[in-house]
Amino acid sequence: MPLKINPIKLIEHGVVAEIRQDVVHVTGLTNCMNGQLVNIGVSAQGVIVGFDPDYVLVLVVREGAPIKPGDAVITTIDQFRVPVGERFIGRRLNALAEPADNGGPIREDGANPIFGAAPGVLERVPLAQVLETGTKIIDMTLPIGMGQRMLIIGDRTTGKTTVGVDAIMNQKGKDVVCIYCCIGKAEAALAKVTESFDKGRVWDYGMIVAATASDPMGQQYLAPYVACSLGEYFMYTKGRDVLVVFDDFTKHAWAYRQISLLLERAPGRDAYPGDIFYIHSQLVERAGKLNAARGGGSMTHLPIVETLQGDVAGYIPSNIISMTDGQVYMNSLLFGEGFKPAIDMGLSVSRIGSKVQWKAMKKLSGMLKLEYVRYKELEKLTRIKAGVSGEVERRLNRGKVLEEVLKQDANEPVAMEDEVMILYALERGLLDKADPPQVRGILAEFIRRVRTRHPTLPAELSQKKELTEPIKEALNNELAGLSHTAV
Ligand SMILES: Nc1ncnc2c1ncn2[C@@H]1O[C@H](COP(=O)(O)OP(=O)(O)OP(=O)(O)O)[C@@H](O)[C@H]1O
Ligand SMILES: [Mg+2]
Repeated sequence: MPLKINPIKLIEHGVVAEIRQDVVHVTGLTNCMNGQLVNIGVSAQGVIVGFDPDYVLVLVVREGAPIKPGDAVITTIDQFRVPVGERFIGRRLNALAEPADNGGPIREDGANPIFGAAPGVLERVPLAQVLETGTKIIDMTLPIGMGQRMLIIGDRTTGKTTVGVDAIMNQKGKDVVCIYCCIGKAEAALAKVTESFDKGRVWDYGMIVAATASDPMGQQYLAPYVACSLGEYFMYTKGRDVLVVFDDFTKHAWAYRQISLLLERAPGRDAYPGDIFYIHSQLVERAGKLNAARGGGSMTHLPIVETLQGDVAGYIPSNIISMTDGQVYMNSLLFGEGFKPAIDMGLSVSRIGSKVQWKAMKKLSGMLKLEYVRYKELEKLTRIKAGVSGEVERRLNRGKVLEEVLKQDANEPVAMEDEVMILYALERGLLDKADPPQVRGILAEFIRRVRTRHPTLPAELSQKKELTEPIKEALNNELAGLSHTAV
């Protein structure tokens, strides 16, 4: 029989010296390391976040019984790990990956370090596959690749969460594991997302990791790391595709600032600690697409950042813009005008470009952005002048029609096949004579016709990703049929 040796576990004992809100000073720990989990007193837990010549700084992440000076602190020399596994899908979790719903305990498949390392350069491959977000403007003009980090940025209530949640809802049946990570938002905002999860039956393939504004500061700080760890299980161990929405990084920066001030770290710009850039880049670096040898999985990050009066040059926004592969800019003026989703195409960019797009989409959407931006300029110019010439009138009307094509309701993601069909119809002149208010109806009728009369066409389009002759012919037939009946 092989000899069985228990691995040696080094256990250390320390003592609580001082308590400052969420931060505890502990003396007597000589062999600990940053990011390590410690047990404090009867039932509290904390993470080591810093060192001083005389004591160790511990951030409380679980408030059990009240902590008093003199309480014992026990550590085991190991990284802070959270349980991960298949059965976390369908659950609402707190920032320590523990169930926060009524579903009972979760049997884990393993444990991942929360401060996991990012995939190395040699383990990565260029992004090649598109993540279908179901938001028309994004899929058409700002394609997101699987493994990309795309920032969603904008003022308060401009529809940021909606874009993120729609992207999650649109992954239904696409074999992508989705994680919505709530950081420091109100319970009510989280309840709305949960509702969308119910409505879209997202629980079959998604989970929520939440630290709301009422949770301890330590949990708000940890939530995004834990969301990454849970995602990494699927990316590394299962070779699957993962999508994580972080809502939002502004609150995460606030939580970290507050913690740092308690730690008496020197405040830097806007009172944020000097390593705030590192904190966020360390998180988004964990996204990526792995090579075949590593299983071929991917993790896409959609961090959300809230701006103040559209100020993208603020410290936190400009930091995060510089570490992501593009941004979706939500404009409060557009939102006010009723253009929803209020994505400002002039200020949004995807640095992955159209490489990952479907061939059909790339071809059809080429001029879209330019045409729209030109229309907005023309609209601005003609706002002051009354009475415009016939040609300008025609161009304005076409712009308005285009606007109608791009609008969509919240929580109703559009399938990529439908988006391609819509653009094809637009190119073939289906909407040339339409009034803007009719656009929605005409397009819905067109899609309905195609889907009922050619039930296999959408799947074929989705598989081929380009407009083959038979597909074009079928679409042309329906377009012709429609222009006889409707317009
Ligand atoms: N495309 C849309 N069509 C209609 N209504 C929308 C659309 N997108 C968002 N809304 C509505 O606008 C409101 C704000 O949306 P949302 O909560 O997504 O914004 P937010 O930017 O995340 O807000 P917050 O700053 O509070 O987090 C919600 O009531 C939502 O239902
Ligand atoms: Mg929101």
